[in-house]
Amino acid sequence: MKIAIPTETQVGESRVAASPDTVKNYVKKGAEVWVQAGAGRGASITDAAYSAAGAKITSNGFDNPDVVLTIRRPSAELLTSLKPGAILMGGLDPYGDKAGLEAIAKSGVMAFAMELMPRITRAQAMDILSSQANLAGYKAVIDAAYHFNRAFPMMMTAAGTVAAAKVFIMGVGVAGLQAIATARRLGAIVSATDVRKATEEQVKSLGAKFVYADIADAATSGGYAKELSAEDKAKQAALVAEHVKNQDVVITTALIPGRPAPVLITQEMVESMKPGSIIIDLAVERGGNCPLSKPDEIVEHKGVKIVGTVNLAGKLAGNASPLFAKNLANFLDLMIQKDGTLKVDDADDCIKGTMIARDGALVHPMFQGAK
Ligand code: NAI
Repeated sequence: MKIAIPTETQVGESRVAASPDTVKNYVKKGAEVWVQAGAGRGASITDAAYSAAGAKITSNGFDNPDVVLTIRRPSAELLTSLKPGAILMGGLDPYGDKAGLEAIAKSGVMAFAMELMPRITRAQAMDILSSQANLAGYKAVIDAAYHFNRAFPMMMTAAGTVAAAKVFIMGVGVAGLQAIATARRLGAIVSATDVRKATEEQVKSLGAKFVYADIADAATSGGYAKELSAEDKAKQAALVAEHVKNQDVVITTALIPGRPAPVLITQEMVESMKPGSIIIDLAVERGGNCPLSKPDEIVEHKGVKIVGTVNLAGKLAGNASPLFAKNLANFLDLMIQKDGTLKVDDADDCIKGTMIARDGALVHPMFQGAK
């Protein structure tokens, strides 16, 4: 079995889909691992480290790999070079640009979009959304503290008292929970909101205040949120409008799978905030929770900075890569047999749930009925 680890080609992507540890494990299982020269540079993993783990380094592409591991969709060049039936797994953006997905299908590979991993206990160790969102939530707070021209903790000094910053986290999934914990550690007064009622206890257990409108619980059985009714949206907006006026930092992380990110902080709300306030919009890649945020820009609106850094986890590539790599390794382990060959068990929920393309067609149920 030949495994290929290409250098990511998307602009700004610094992560890599294998670590020396995962390489070592693949080699132990009898695989031949080929890493593109320089693939680990953004994560500070040298070619020598991959070699020491047993990988072969290539500067001339790959020779018919059986498995390709990626952070994002592979380049068209790599895709068209793959043999039919080769396994491709990574962050393939199953809700994004359909032409790119069709190109993946047409190449004949068997493709797995790790974003579609079911939210079941067994799948936690394969969940790239969790491993990456956790880091993004941490980094969002660090970035907010960097852009904020005041301190987070309360400080009592001979020259006067510095008030603690008020930080509001919107969306208490994996990123939001880490953001709460990080902001609390920095000494901020933290509040948070979500549309899933179960998050109340989690928010409180982290020492933050829960802000919740009188709305129907929007949790789905899959662990995600669904879109609110128009009436509940209005209730939530009224509560948020009142709350954000007094906040110094707002970190938004709200997402609904397969839908544009919900608008939570309107322009009017931004204008109600004090000059110097900071908004970090983690949902910017999916349209943003604030209509003023722009991908990879810092927009200043009436003294409020709206930071729309894309791929925050990628800014911590040194941690994000080994975690992503381990998620992939745990998933690939489901297919590696004792004799080192590969077998794809269609009945496995994790395999069935993430397989998007096979034998030249898009096969995931989410594409059924879609043109
Ligand atoms: P996500 O990234 O899809 O969304 C972030 C948060 O935004 C969610 O908590 C969602 O409820 C919230 N949200 C959506 N619309 C909103 C709105 N209008 N206003 C306010 N908040 C809104 O979610 P994430 O972080 O991927 O995970 C959600 C939950 O799934 C986690 O809390 C966790 O319990 C569960 N989970 C389970 C896993 C497993 O069992 N394998 C793995 C990872 C997460």
